[in-house]
Amino acid sequence: VTVYVPCDASALSLGAEAVAETIAAEAARRGLDVTIVRNGSRGMFWLEPLVEVATPEGRIAYGPVQPDEVAALFDADFLHGGAHALALGPTESIAYLKSQQRLTFARVGIIDPRSLDDYLAHGGYRGLEAALRMSGADIVQTVTDSGLRGRGGAAFPTGVKWKTCLDAKAVQKYVACNADEGDSGTYADRMVMEGDPFVLIEGMTIAGIAAGATRGYIYLRVEYPHAHRALKAAIAIAEANGYLGDDVRGSGKAFHLEVRLGGGAYICGEETSMLESLEGKRGQVRVKPPLPAIHGLFGKPTVINNVVTFASVPIILDKGAAFYRDYGSGRSRGTLPIQLAGNLKRPGLVERAFGLTLRELIEGYGGGTASGRPVRAVQVGGPLGAYIPASQLDAPIDYEGFAAIGGMLGHGGVVVFDDTVNMAAQARYAMEFCAIESCGKCTPCRIGSTRGVEVIDRMLASDNAGRQRDEVLLRDLCQTMVAGSLCALGGMAPFPVLSALDHFHEDFAGTAEPVQ
Ligand code: NAI
Ligand code: SF4
Repeated sequence: VTVYVPCDASALSLGAEAVAETIAAEAARRGLDVTIVRNGSRGMFWLEPLVEVATPEGRIAYGPVQPDEVAALFDADFLHGGAHALALGPTESIAYLKSQQRLTFARVGIIDPRSLDDYLAHGGYRGLEAALRMSGADIVQTVTDSGLRGRGGAAFPTGVKWKTCLDAKAVQKYVACNADEGDSGTYADRMVMEGDPFVLIEGMTIAGIAAGATRGYIYLRVEYPHAHRALKAAIAIAEANGYLGDDVRGSGKAFHLEVRLGGGAYICGEETSMLESLEGKRGQVRVKPPLPAIHGLFGKPTVINNVVTFASVPIILDKGAAFYRDYGSGRSRGTLPIQLAGNLKRPGLVERAFGLTLRELIEGYGGGTASGRPVRAVQVGGPLGAYIPASQLDAPIDYEGFAAIGGMLGHGGVVVFDDTVNMAAQARYAMEFCAIESCGKCTPCRIGSTRGVEVIDRMLASDNAGRQRDEVLLRDLCQTMVAGSLCALGGMAPFPVLSALDHFHEDFAGTAEPVQ
């Protein structure tokens, strides 16, 4: 009997390792033949460690399982789907999962991330096989036609970016994957790398073949040791089986891939800082233009995308641009892996076509707050994202719809706060975060963020007249940072501050209305 116990970091943090060991020991003690596969997570974190058993009727789930419950599970004959208080029925029938549209995450939690055979058996490398039969320009056109936009946060059309690199004339080009996932409440990149590392390798290889780049680098944050191990193992297997190397699948085309570890700076997730860091220098932002697609790593044309963007490419090449484009709404095509976090009953990964609302996510999937108190604010798009008030929860999740209410989807992280949150403290935190993580290259961000913390502190300590004066000053400072910062860190840190002032003014001033 095959039993699945996740090796995903979230499941491990909740005790999955001990559960796997206990299942192995208990099976040995009872003389039962059990094979334990360490899969990725299904992304239902409140059920982790989620143990699944393969039965003729499909996988049956049990969770959350702790080591001291394992013997009772054996007594209940869980190996054949037996009834038990922790039984959840067929995994695929769990409503949270059943209602999703998993394209990028199609294999995460299903396959053994260290098995190329499993990857191939679940549709893996079909995208690359198709790409190898096409010209670079046709691959780029397919990606353009799919409507895929960068999932790292900026939502730039991926095909346009690839075309810029393809059209650049150079002997050497590179592909670089931004795996420095640093936004609060985000973990989609990590889940892909831990649960389906070959899909990232495949997506990057397709990018390399398309743009004419023969070397790729994955810039991975050092805080992801499990992803690091999974990627290194998968790269070695891909090399040994001709999916990476001088002659990818006998095509005569070369693509080599390496993982490089970051050192923990948030700014190294900004693409030009990442390039500096990859070159062995201090991670400081470069002036753009020139764009990295033309003048990138070591001064050469470089395709830079985020993990989820690359991981979305294989299915587009396999099933065609129209298949992917048919999901979504407006100019936001395909699906978005949304990461639910913060004060929620059911935090987890929800991949759905663009167009559903925040309310469906928070109340439907998330089950409301874990505390049972009302939702007061939602921060979408990381620490630089605006705070959305509960009155705007019906906003649709797509790039343009969200921008219309002053928000940004970013990397798809959703962090929920109940009515005990102090929004002035959150605003102060945004400025403080910017002050700590600023690379120091430009004045509005380096000095402005520190002054921002001071002004908010002073506002909170002053009388009403002083507060109003300081609010004018704070708004002016925010405008200067938005207009004058070199990159998104200083340019976006004001958004959470301004949204807190606009929607939660009472937390700053007791009763006064926002000063415009
Ligand atoms: P950007 O708008 O400057 O650029 C977007 C991308 O398009 C870049 O790769 C740029 O080089 C490329 N590009 C622009 N014009 C092009 C052209 N004509 N041809 C080819 N390529 C072109 O945005 P930026 O500064 O790269 O990213 C900002 C975003 O990053 C924010 O919106 C934020 O959501 C996100 N972010 C994500 C984090 C994460 O952990 N995933 C952390 C922090 C911020
Ligand atoms: Fe550096 Fe901040 Fe300027 Fe970005 S905005 S270049 S992080 S100082």
